[in-house]
Amino acid sequence: MKKLALFAGMTLATAAGAAEETAVHQPEFWLEVQEHVVNNDIPQLLGYASDPSYTMTYLPERVSEGYLSFLQASATIGNFIFMSVVLIAILFAVFVLFNGRAKLENGFSGKLVDRWSPLDVFLHWLAAIPGVVLILTGLVIGAGRYWLEPLMSPSHFASFANASVMFHNFFAFPFIVGAVLIMIKWAKRQFPEAGDGKWFACLGGYINLGGGKAKHPDAGFANAGEKAYFWTVFVFGLALIVTGLMMLYPNLFGGVDKNGTLLALIIHIVSAVILGAFTVIHIFMGAVMSEGGMQNMLNGKCDENWAKQNHNLWYAKVAK
Ligand code: HEM
Repeated sequence: MKKLALFAGMTLATAAGAAEETAVHQPEFWLEVQEHVVNNDIPQLLGYASDPSYTMTYLPERVSEGYLSFLQASATIGNFIFMSVVLIAILFAVFVLFNGRAKLENGFSGKLVDRWSPLDVFLHWLAAIPGVVLILTGLVIGAGRYWLEPLMSPSHFASFANASVMFHNFFAFPFIVGAVLIMIKWAKRQFPEAGDGKWFACLGGYINLGGGKAKHPDAGFANAGEKAYFWTVFVFGLALIVTGLMMLYPNLFGGVDKNGTLLALIIHIVSAVILGAFTVIHIFMGAVMSEGGMQNMLNGKCDENWAKQNHNLWYAKVAK
């Protein structure tokens, strides 16, 4: 009913008024998708949609009710996006504080083992640095209205949100190149193996709560947790890439219509929430949780004791 009233209001608004508002508020980079009109959905999240002229191009009879009502729940979407990044980061930080890091039992040996090639390290950061920018700008675009706007004036928030959209669209490209090459190049070492179930059953031996010193279970080049993250990147990363490109270049996909763009936006948001949460955990695991793990992605080499403790089956092979 509320929606009907909104659409009725829309038809009364003047086209000139809509054009004026459009010129003021719409993120510049999205002008080319005017017709297909993501920019009339995103403003809902950015807080512009209280002005009905923004929804001028909705033709009620041509737009799926289901998609529309999903996107109109912008506060719930914002909360999920916020939780997937900020809440997960806080929970994990508290966990590490109580549980402690996974220390190297025998300290650093000083002997280094080749783990990633220079190309692998380059590809990782080609995807990872833009990936972090995409998460942070996505957080502003999707949830900023609820936690950032109250901290600043509406016009500052509008500029900040528009800048975030520009950065989001720009950093998507290096991310796409890095992530797609990672998917192709690394997949062969990420398939499930016997022992992965056991790894999950004891959560990788990372849980030290209760005083006991957990032992890391057997693992090859990638442990079950790393494989799970790789396939999360593969599935939801691809979904993000395809739907993002559909929204930026609808014509490349045979002219995606309004419903197609709405569905693309929904898939984009759901995938971002899932991949965002797993990526926060991944960053904690790589940078904080596993002592000695971070250097693997800095110089491609790991300490021999790190290899024995975390990836014993792989180490046994390379040490031969
Ligand atoms: C500051 C952010 C990040 C840090 C500190 C980080 C750290 C690391 C480290 C240390 C490894 C090597 C683990 C090992 O040798 O076993 C790794 C692997 C990996 N990273 Fe990242 N990473 C970050 C962001 C990302 C992002 C945004 C992506 C998404 C594309 C990503 C995707 C991967 C994948 C697929 C692997 C291989 C599987 C795995 O080890 O989990 N990383 N990362």
